[in-house]
Amino acid sequence: MKTIKHVSEMVEISKNYAGKSVGFVPTMGALHAGHLSLVKEARKHNDIVVVSIFVNPAQFGLREDFGAYPRVLDKDQALLDRENVDYIFAPESSEMYPEGFSTSIHVANLTDYLCGYYRPGHFDGVALVVNKLLNMVKPTRAYFGQKDAQQFRMLKRMVGDLNMSVEMIEMPIVREPDGLALSSRNMYLSSEERKVAPMLHQAIKYTVDQIKSGRRDAYKIKREAINKLRVYPEIKVQYFEIVDEEKLIPISKITSKVIVAAAIYLGKTRLIDNEIVDV
Ligand code: PAJ
Repeated sequence: MKTIKHVSEMVEISKNYAGKSVGFVPTMGALHAGHLSLVKEARKHNDIVVVSIFVNPAQFGLREDFGAYPRVLDKDQALLDRENVDYIFAPESSEMYPEGFSTSIHVANLTDYLCGYYRPGHFDGVALVVNKLLNMVKPTRAYFGQKDAQQFRMLKRMVGDLNMSVEMIEMPIVREPDGLALSSRNMYLSSEERKVAPMLHQAIKYTVDQIKSGRRDAYKIKREAINKLRVYPEIKVQYFEIVDEEKLIPISKITSKVIVAAAIYLGKTRLIDNEIVDV
């Protein structure tokens, strides 16, 4: 395994894949079993595996946790070595966004609701960095988690709209035994907050079960789920939505595949989760 620090070196390597298939997993590091599930899938289906670790300043808002975001490259390297990764690409911000950098990317519509609404500019930053990373790494396939379902759908749209030749693959959410979705941000939680954190998935599961049992009134089910979360004074619900799975627009009557998606605050920590339901 080799760690590449410079953009120019990554670009040189990606010129010389010699027809081999390349699986790519973009991350911001502080790796956990969720990230590693993507790496394992990439390892299974490709000759070469590249994992990027880059805490992308362009996707953090002014009042968000860019400074506090965990940076543990040594630990991440050890984990990726065990998964037989070929290359870690860990560039510096100054090389990704050199002086004079002027380009932006905006994927419309799919970013109007959910996290897109509450984190203005966030998905522009994600689209920009993933576009750059795909240009540098030139993978055959790129792997993402359903944990960030809106991110995946937006990026897939970008890749289609810009005729980029990479296969986009979405993998299921890896969870703790109590249902909490693994996240690098879970380490911010106090022990009290950690205790109530699984309620996020409980409320989503309640919603999924109601839909599966035949209910179609999205608005009423949503209210019930939010009320279940309101029982816990530590939890502040940012949004709890049932959206069309393709358009990511909130719906009132459930008639097709939907995503139940929510974001909450526990103290200063923002957690997101979702489930996809087919009716
Ligand atoms: P990051 O939050 O590090 O996540 C990297 C990838 O791991 C994403 O595709 C995310 O959906 C996936 N992932 C995170 N938690 C997961 C879980 N519990 N189960 C399965 N997959 C999980 O997402 C980003 O970084 C950034 O926005 C990035 C795409 C790297 C662009 O900067």
